[in-house]
Amino acid sequence: MDSEIIGQEDWGELQKNLEATIPVYDKINHFATLGQVSRWRKIVRKKLPDEGLILEIGCGPGSFAEDVRGRDLVCLDPIPEMLRIAKIRVDDKRGKRGDSRAKFVQGTAEDLPFEDNLFDTVCTLFSFRDWYDKRKGLSEVRRVLKPGGTLIIVDPAKMNYFHGFLGHFWMKYWVGTYARIVCKQKEHPWKWLTKTYINFGTTKKYTKMLIEEGFESVSGKVIFPGMATIWAGKAPELENS
Ligand SMILES: C[S@@+](CC[C@H](N)C(=O)[O-])C[C@H]1O[C@@H](n2cnc3c(N)ncnc32)[C@H](O)[C@@H]1O
Repeated sequence: MDSEIIGQEDWGELQKNLEATIPVYDKINHFATLGQVSRWRKIVRKKLPDEGLILEIGCGPGSFAEDVRGRDLVCLDPIPEMLRIAKIRVDDKRGKRGDSRAKFVQGTAEDLPFEDNLFDTVCTLFSFRDWYDKRKGLSEVRRVLKPGGTLIIVDPAKMNYFHGFLGHFWMKYWVGTYARIVCKQKEHPWKWLTKTYINFGTTKKYTKMLIEEGFESVSGKVIFPGMATIWAGKAPELENS
């Protein structure tokens, strides 16, 4: 596994471990981020356009999607159990608010099961670092975005490699000990989240990757050092012929 590619065997193991996090996902995430995760999700929701179709890639158990209000929403994840839980949570909240039902689709970022130019916005929170081929995923996102559509990514990038070293200790000992207690097992699934955290690159690396993959107006901003960077970019507008 490196900062761009996760081999198929490792990715399969990662997915098994991500599935095992479902019952404790929100609890441990809240602890690991010092309760900041809700604030970061709010920042992304505020950036969503008022109208148009939104895709969340790697929706997990619906922790972000459930509070996307008043917009048409498609949630994608490779794990059927994540989608099952997300559907219950998201549609329950959407129903109570009078929003239309969301659509839940099984698939991966690297092979998006959608036609070209379909979405106004694509967002992906705490999932990009799990994609097994990040460049391929980004080129797929570009394909399904409408010209001028926006991509928003949130994930815990390092500011530099020394900083990554400190983050490694945070994840391994602080979060790892808590996960071990909550999961009541030594071989808890958070070990795999620590592995992807360690192998994830810097804010600058993915800002450059977005530009190289053809996104425009690209920005990468650290919103909490070592825990959350928010990247944004736009699919190119159609050129006048
Ligand atoms: C940690 S959860 C994130 C959940 C949610 N987005 C949030 O804000 O908390 C990461 C999700 O990304 C999904 N994922 C992993 N690899 C993926 C890929 N290649 N394409 C799309 N989703 C992927 C996992 O199945 C998992 O449900």
